[in-house]
Amino acid sequence: MEEIKIFAPASVANVSCGFDVLGFCLDPVGDVMHVSKTKTPGVQIGTVTGQELPKDPLKNVASVAVSAFLEAHPSKEGFRIDIDKRIKPGSGIGSSAASAAGAVFAVNELLGAPYTRAELVQFAMAGEALASGAAHADNLAPVLLGGFTLVRCNATLDIIKLPTPPDLVATVIHPKIELKTIHSRAILKSDIPLQKGVAQWGNLGAFISALYTENYELLSRSMQDEVIEPLRAMLIPKFNEVKQAALDSGALGSGISGSGPSIFALSRGRETAKKVGDAMKTFYDQIGLDYDVHLSPINQQGIKIL
Ligand code: HSE
Repeated sequence: MEEIKIFAPASVANVSCGFDVLGFCLDPVGDVMHVSKTKTPGVQIGTVTGQELPKDPLKNVASVAVSAFLEAHPSKEGFRIDIDKRIKPGSGIGSSAASAAGAVFAVNELLGAPYTRAELVQFAMAGEALASGAAHADNLAPVLLGGFTLVRCNATLDIIKLPTPPDLVATVIHPKIELKTIHSRAILKSDIPLQKGVAQWGNLGAFISALYTENYELLSRSMQDEVIEPLRAMLIPKFNEVKQAALDSGALGSGISGSGPSIFALSRGRETAKKVGDAMKTFYDQIGLDYDVHLSPINQQGIKIL
């Protein structure tokens, strides 16, 4: 194979109760990447459409991830990456993860797939570290594996794919302001009170149980964030109002998507998810802030070849 075109989807990390460890994969939003072999070894960024991205291979998350891959798996051939960047950087739905995971997935395919999807996470982490200043796999894992994923350990990349209760539909609203992960991580505290830790791991354990047992009421009760959301809420216009509107419209839960500014909700069925989106957007209509709303089933496949 000389070239490949892939779709690298957006994702929602944290999911309220699982900061840096829990995530799920979205469906309709994502980047399209075309990767082709070149005669000169190494990696280069070709054309970029949709958004402004660095062309310098040392500064682009896609090429940095591929360089990490090629260090472990050297190749006489080189690679050119053309990116149609449809996920806005700094939107909170895994823009850097899609670029990094998409690029290593494509190169792996072009080299005859020496690594599994799960093994590719380690290389994509290099791109994620460049973008956010911290290597965490909570967006990368669902983008590569699909569905819901739990990263038991970010250091050893012990990743578990979780089941998805069939009725779940996600609503994501992206108020169009840019919030860089590196900045929304900078305001976090490095310590948390024991009492908050107890609440958080209680919720995370219950959320995982709810996925396995398809217990929507338990899932709803577990979608609480006592640690991160209270600190980051002030970075997002009308966050509390938008979240409350989602819950009042029937969402099982709602919270900050990754590091924001996008806000996500999980609902039972598409009809409720649509009602939730309509309620969430009224606040941005009122203050004249532009936004996108996405309705999405949980994407079970992750990255796909086009
Ligand atoms: N877990 C990460 C965070 C996701 O909340 O900072 C964003 O990359």
